[in-house]
Amino acid sequence: MVSPKHHIFICTSCRINGTQQGYCFQQDSVKILQTFLEEIDERELSGDVMLNNTGCFGICDKGPIVVVYPEGVWYGKVTVDDVERIMTNTSKAATWSKTWLFNSLH
Ligand code: FES
Repeated sequence: MVSPKHHIFICTSCRINGTQQGYCFQQDSVKILQTFLEEIDERELSGDVMLNNTGCFGICDKGPIVVVYPEGVWYGKVTVDDVERIMTNTSKAATWSKTWLFNSLH
């Protein structure tokens, strides 16, 4: 069984019935997810970083939302252009502040 060091959750507004609707989806979160996949592949981190799409976190006005565990860092208003920076921050996770929350990128 793979034991990733980091688990990244990306809100794609996925509903229980499998459809994707909602704010984060409308803000290109599926493209953000795809960009994370490419970045993980390029950095050869597939064993270290696990990626999942999620349903609504209930904070759509801050979306698209990306959450990184075990650090517990929540990113808001994420764009495709932010993915590389989030991945770099993730690799430096030991230096993160737990208080670095929403809108830290913008
Ligand atoms: S749809 Fe993403 S937080 Fe609500």
